[in-house]
Amino acid sequence: EGDPALYVPEADDVAAWWPRPVANDNKYSRGVVGIATGSDRYPGAAVLSVAGALAGPAGLVRYAGTAIEQVRFHHPPVIPTDRVADAGRVQAWACGSGLGSDERAYTEVRTVLGTPVPAVLDADALTLLVDARMADWLRGRDAPTVVTPHDGEFQRLAGGAPGDDRIGAAAHLAERMESVVLLKGDRTIIATPDGRVFVNPTGTPALATGGTGDVLTGLLGSLLAAGLPAEHAATAAAFVHGLAGRLAAEEGPVTAANVAAHLRPAVRSLRAT
Ligand code: APR
Ligand code: MG
Repeated sequence: EGDPALYVPEADDVAAWWPRPVANDNKYSRGVVGIATGSDRYPGAAVLSVAGALAGPAGLVRYAGTAIEQVRFHHPPVIPTDRVADAGRVQAWACGSGLGSDERAYTEVRTVLGTPVPAVLDADALTLLVDARMADWLRGRDAPTVVTPHDGEFQRLAGGAPGDDRIGAAAHLAERMESVVLLKGDRTIIATPDGRVFVNPTGTPALATGGTGDVLTGLLGSLLAAGLPAEHAATAAAFVHGLAGRLAAEEGPVTAANVAAHLRPAVRSLRAT
């Protein structure tokens, strides 16, 4: 075993990967993303991940969960449903932020794992993955899965902190979980089960504010729904998320909603650099 192949993406790479609508597209052909986040206790996670998804390339955003009223208020075009199982056609799921860890959350994560489409799992979904049956269902999936831990979530999933060799730690977890691992940080690392690693160069400490992770989850779900390979979806989402954080910081104190509002300008800036 040598060092994993290492890539540092540039704006041109991300611009080339970013799905753009073509003449005969409709909202379904551009991709349908399902967002299964938030709860009565944490409705903000739902609102933020939906905001991230709406800034992405997918043509339609569905929401499944209990924060329907808040999502409807902030994002009227989103189609809501109570449960993942009732959501209808979805081409990728983003799941976990603010979901809680009760019986309902368990069922929703399990249902997402049982779907045949790509998925991104974050936050509470990662805590539930510590359950051995959940981990088996994850490894049994045919479609790609991305897990997006911060250091604390990584520690729970891997059974130990990332340590100094963050690249090695992410690569090892990706292999073990048979999933793409996006390890959050100053330089967010994206590792694939087959040994490739992408290191995001656009990070900014301006993103260190509650809820920015939820925005990232939604954006990444939209890129998966639009058909990007999981490692490109994760790398592109981290890159644009970082750019949006920088743009938001130019205007003053950064909030997660503010980062979401700058995702579209960040995507536009890819072509200009
Ligand atoms: N430099 C660059 N990027 C950073 C930095 C930093 N110093 N700190 C954080 N970020 C980025 C991460 O890379 C990630 O994209 O900000 C985002 C933070 O995401 P999360 O850690 O998931 O935080 P978030 O979920 O938004 O916070 C809400 O949920 O899981 C809990 O403990 C978490 O209390 C927190 C809450
Ligand atoms: Mg988080």
